[in-house]
Amino acid sequence: MASSSSSMVLMLVAYVLVVTIRSSNAQLTTNFYSKSCPNLDSTVKSVVQSAIKKEARMGASLLRLFFHDCFVNGCDGSILLDDTSSFTGEKNAIPNKGSIRGFEVIDQIKSAVEKACPNVVSCADILAVTARDSVVTLGGPTWNVKLGRRDATKASQSAANNNIPPPTLNLSALISSFKNQGLSTTDMVALSGAHTIGQARCTSFRTRIYNESNINASFAKTRQANCPRTNNTGDNNLAPLDLQTPTSFDNKYYNNLVNQKGLLHSDQQLFSGGSTNALVQTYTTNPTRFNADFVTAMINMGDIKPLTGSNGQIRKNCRKTN
Ligand code: HEM
Ligand SMILES: *[C@@H]1O[C@H](CO)[C@@H](O)[C@H](O)[C@H]1NC(C)=O
Ligand SMILES: *[C@@H]1O[C@H](CO)[C@@H](O)[C@H](O)[C@H]1NC(C)=O
Ligand SMILES: *[C@@H]1O[C@H](CO)[C@@H](O)[C@H](O)[C@H]1NC(C)=O
Ligand SMILES: *[C@@H]1O[C@H](CO)[C@@H](O)[C@H](O)[C@H]1NC(C)=O
Repeated sequence: MASSSSSMVLMLVAYVLVVTIRSSNAQLTTNFYSKSCPNLDSTVKSVVQSAIKKEARMGASLLRLFFHDCFVNGCDGSILLDDTSSFTGEKNAIPNKGSIRGFEVIDQIKSAVEKACPNVVSCADILAVTARDSVVTLGGPTWNVKLGRRDATKASQSAANNNIPPPTLNLSALISSFKNQGLSTTDMVALSGAHTIGQARCTSFRTRIYNESNINASFAKTRQANCPRTNNTGDNNLAPLDLQTPTSFDNKYYNNLVNQKGLLHSDQQLFSGGSTNALVQTYTTNPTRFNADFVTAMINMGDIKPLTGSNGQIRKNCRKTN
């Protein structure tokens, strides 16, 4: 009797768990807007392509926006909200201030999408499609983006400060930061390959180029030439995250790490004798494997705590709530 009722309880608990886990992203589907906004893909793609044509770095900036959105209370478009009198937004959080960019391009995409299908497509989904199109336009792999996210009605500066990993983290802290979002170590290593494109400010890599020993000396010297040792001098001077092909989405980032030419401390942590060394090495010789793992990881990241159903809203203007 006791054992049969306790097994009933166990079954119930298992059932509730399965339902809860499934319902967290049950409504995200790749054909979510196929009837309500059939031209979504082509509309987004054409604005992304022209923005990247104007400035190749924009593809990197747009990809990063999606990451910084998803890591702060899920992929809910919260990063796009301007500060208001009732909350302090994420744009001025430490990992974003003076560094995150691309908001004007998102505005442009949103108005093109609103013209084609008013009040239908969320800003959160626009970020997901934009990230994919940026990767593709710069030569990376493609994938079908899961859609159906809705937009947050608030943003959190403190959550942005706490959840977006800083470049000072060591390997175990990087692994936990991604694990806290439900992402694996493989996801973390593959997603870091996004640093095959884009730029970083001197302030993000100064300590690495002056004070670390696991760095190629001639590479450090080259970077020092445009990043003075003294704090607050040249803080915003830029350097490419991938010294070889900063506007091509390829696997050269991993090749840099093996040669001790990772720009950020966090980059080089992936190849500094720890548990991720082998995977980095694999990606240097197997771009197909990197592409496949990157795509899987982007889809996993896009699944972080979406608002679905009647939660949140479809913002008319990505910068503010309706
Ligand atoms: C693994 C932990 C990560 C850390 C510690 C990190 C840190 C950073 C830092 C410090 C910068 C330079 C910011 C600046 O100085 O202005 C940067 C740039 C960038 N990050 Fe990450 N990042 C991480 C993961 C990711 C992921 C998962 C993605 C996307 C999937 C990503 C995409 C980018 C891109 C594309 C840029 C260049 C942006 C531009 O040029 O505008 N990063 N990251
Ligand atoms: C990594 O960083 C964490 C947090 O700063 C620290 O507690 C830990 O000791 C560090 N681990 C290693 C291996 O240095
Ligand atoms: C490098 O380390 C030394 C000694 O710990 C410290 O005095 C100096 O400020 C550091 N420089 C940078 C650029 O971090
Ligand atoms: C550092 O990089 C330079 C330039 O690519 C290379 O010639 C040199 O052999 C590297 N140094 C070491 C110790 O690997
Ligand atoms: C510069 O700032 C870094 C990071 O805050 C710090 O570790 C370092 O000691 C500072 N260096 C100088 C020369 O003040």
